[in-house]
Amino acid sequence: MQHSVYTRRCLRLLLLLLLLAVVIVCVWKCLAAIHRREGGLSFASYYGDHMVLQKSPERAVLWGYGCDGAQVTLILSGPTKQKTSQVNVTNGIWRVTLDPVEAGGPYNVTAVTKDSSATLTDVLFGDIWLCGGQSNMWFNMSMVFNASEELKLSEKYPDVRFFMAALNQSKTELLDLTDVEIPWSVAPTNLEGFSAVCWLYGRYLYDMLKYPIGLVESCWEGTPVEVWSSARALLRCGQDFAGPKNDSVLWNSMIHPLLNMTIKGAIWYQGEANTYYHKDKYACTFPAMIDDWRKSFHNGSGGKTAIDFPFGFVQLSTDNNNSVSVFTPIVRWHQTADFGYVPNDRMPNTFMAVALDLPDPDSPLRPIHPRDKQDVAYRLTLGARAVAYNEKGVAFQGPFPKPILYKGTQVIVNYNQEISVNKSVHIFEICCTETQVSCGSKSHWVPAPIVWSNKTSVELSTRCKPSQEVGALRYAWSASPCLFKACPIYSADKSLPAPPFIFNRYSP
Ligand SMILES: *[C@@H]1O[C@H](CO)[C@@H](O)[C@H](O)[C@H]1NC(C)=O
Ligand SMILES: *[C@@H]1O[C@H](CO)[C@@H](O)[C@H](O)[C@H]1NC(C)=O
Ligand SMILES: *[C@@H]1O[C@H](CO)[C@@H](O)[C@H](O)[C@H]1NC(C)=O
Ligand SMILES: *[C@@H]1O[C@H](CO)[C@@H](O)[C@H](O)[C@H]1NC(C)=O
Ligand SMILES: *[C@@H]1O[C@H](CO)[C@@H](O)[C@H](O)[C@H]1NC(C)=O
Ligand SMILES: *[C@@H]1O[C@H](CO)[C@@H](O)[C@H](O)[C@H]1NC(C)=O
Ligand SMILES: *[C@@H]1O[C@H](CO)[C@@H](O)[C@H](O)[C@H]1NC(C)=O
Ligand SMILES: *[C@@H]1O[C@H](CO)[C@@H](O)[C@H](O)[C@H]1NC(C)=O
Ligand SMILES: *[C@@H]1O[C@H](CO)[C@@H](O)[C@H](O)[C@H]1NC(C)=O
Ligand SMILES: *[C@@H]1O[C@H](CO)[C@@H](O)[C@H](O)[C@H]1NC(C)=O
Ligand SMILES: *[C@@H]1O[C@H](CO)[C@@H](O)[C@H](O)[C@H]1NC(C)=O
Repeated sequence: MQHSVYTRRCLRLLLLLLLLAVVIVCVWKCLAAIHRREGGLSFASYYGDHMVLQKSPERAVLWGYGCDGAQVTLILSGPTKQKTSQVNVTNGIWRVTLDPVEAGGPYNVTAVTKDSSATLTDVLFGDIWLCGGQSNMWFNMSMVFNASEELKLSEKYPDVRFFMAALNQSKTELLDLTDVEIPWSVAPTNLEGFSAVCWLYGRYLYDMLKYPIGLVESCWEGTPVEVWSSARALLRCGQDFAGPKNDSVLWNSMIHPLLNMTIKGAIWYQGEANTYYHKDKYACTFPAMIDDWRKSFHNGSGGKTAIDFPFGFVQLSTDNNNSVSVFTPIVRWHQTADFGYVPNDRMPNTFMAVALDLPDPDSPLRPIHPRDKQDVAYRLTLGARAVAYNEKGVAFQGPFPKPILYKGTQVIVNYNQEISVNKSVHIFEICCTETQVSCGSKSHWVPAPIVWSNKTSVELSTRCKPSQEVGALRYAWSASPCLFKACPIYSADKSLPAPPFIFNRYSP
């Protein structure tokens, strides 16, 4: 008897404890859910107060979390009003595409279900630019030249908003960012830690467009292009994706989650890490990444982001001469898919800021991180105006040679535009070879001074042996070929430096 009484009591106690445990877990889960999702409904990590959404003619896509079975409506209130039709939450996710909204604001964007709601306030519509790459994109506003003046000036740009994804990596493609480094902000709040190139680019764009600009920074110092590329993109270049640098890990965690947002375009400042990692593949991997981002953003936004969205990038800047920077010219060349200029047949709808004439040997963050980001961003903006915004008559490309004329010992370089020349800087080089033999990788290069120039051409002095001829020609082929803004060839108004090139007379 005693025994069964004890058993019964024990069981009752156990049951009570179990019930208590269940209640505690329930309450805990509920609280966590309420805390995280404001009553079961919320936006994805990169939708927030003060944000910019893509303006018309594109349509902004918004998504977030909710309880399965709930029906979500999005209400836009501000200069214009909009109420979307209901969408169902499936697998904890809802997603809505707005009708096109003209540039302007402020708006409140409210997601509502029968019994809960979530609101984004002070939302503007404008153009969204994604800013990616490595340390020179990561380089923040507090480190730039004239930082305090720039931060003060930023107060005049309340319609240029910015957001920064937190650093994280993942072996699998993620749905959302794991964390946010800088939530959508209005300058000068949080600007010190934000990308200088990205901010200045947005600010110069605003000066021209006069409507809101949204900047999304997602970059990480010291990273090669492979970590920002999907396995799909790497396969196109015959790249294995088990490399020591964790191929795709940042694509997975810091780009893939953003695919669902409608964007206008992207700018990119990267390549330094590829001077010592798969540099010879860069002419394939970089354009392949651009192609893949375009397809992926187009698909992720349900076709709202243009399939050929404009993509701007900075051609590698300068560094002190060292054992790694000797490869800088090769990566610069590969950044253009070996054309020397963009856009080109392989890289349509791209634009490039040449930066090899902006050295900063005294940079506290090492010479590879020059503090003059103003000129870099400004040159990028020129490309954006011409390529992304189709503004007519904007010069954005420095002088580039038309086919080279070889006349015996003479070499004449005819440019595709009028030039400004400084004959005392000697950074043309030739390689002399036996007749009709191509210059190999071990060829000896010698300086070829400019002896004569007119408005569009320069003639180079070539001193090959009588039995030899000029087999190849290159320009500005070193990490830091000129003093600050003192290269020998610029556009006629001296604003745009000639990009570097290498031409072989006979293919190797
Ligand atoms: C947005 O909501 C705030 C309160 O949350 C309100 O003060 C403001 O007037 C609203 N703005 C618009 C454009 O509806
Ligand atoms: C949403 O769910 C309801 C039932 O809960 C269903 O009647 C309706 O067709 C669904 N709508 C869509 C767009 O799937
Ligand atoms: C990074 O991502 C992993 C999931 O991939 C997550 O568990 C971890 O908390 C994240 N770290 C940070 C600092 O957000
Ligand atoms: C800006 O960058 C510098 C150098 O990397 C760093 O020390 C500083 O903490 C950064 N500032 C902010 C606000 O993140
Ligand atoms: C990256 O590679 C290192 C070394 O190969 C490995 O230890 C680490 O787990 C990898 N990380 C990810 C996210 O794949
Ligand atoms: C487009 O995205 C959907 C999911 O949103 C996916 O199922 C499909 O495979 C993607 N298509 C391509 C070509 O990437
Ligand atoms: C975002 O786009 C990616 C790629 O197309 C897709 O896998 C994912 O399901 C989409 N997420 C949402 C919330 O639509
Ligand atoms: C680096 O080397 C190149 C050629 O080898 C030379 O023209 C240039 O002046 C050097 N730059 C520096 C900063 O030493
Ligand atoms: C910094 O400010 C000075 C004085 O206004 C100006 O001359 C200089 O060009 C600025 N530097 C940059 C990199 O913008
Ligand atoms: C041309 O370059 C030389 C050498 O760098 C320099 O001393 C001179 O001032 C430059 N001339 C002009 C007109 O910029
Ligand atoms: C400059 O010289 C080249 C080569 O001699 C010639 O073809 C070209 O017509 C000249 N251009 C001008 C503007 O004089």
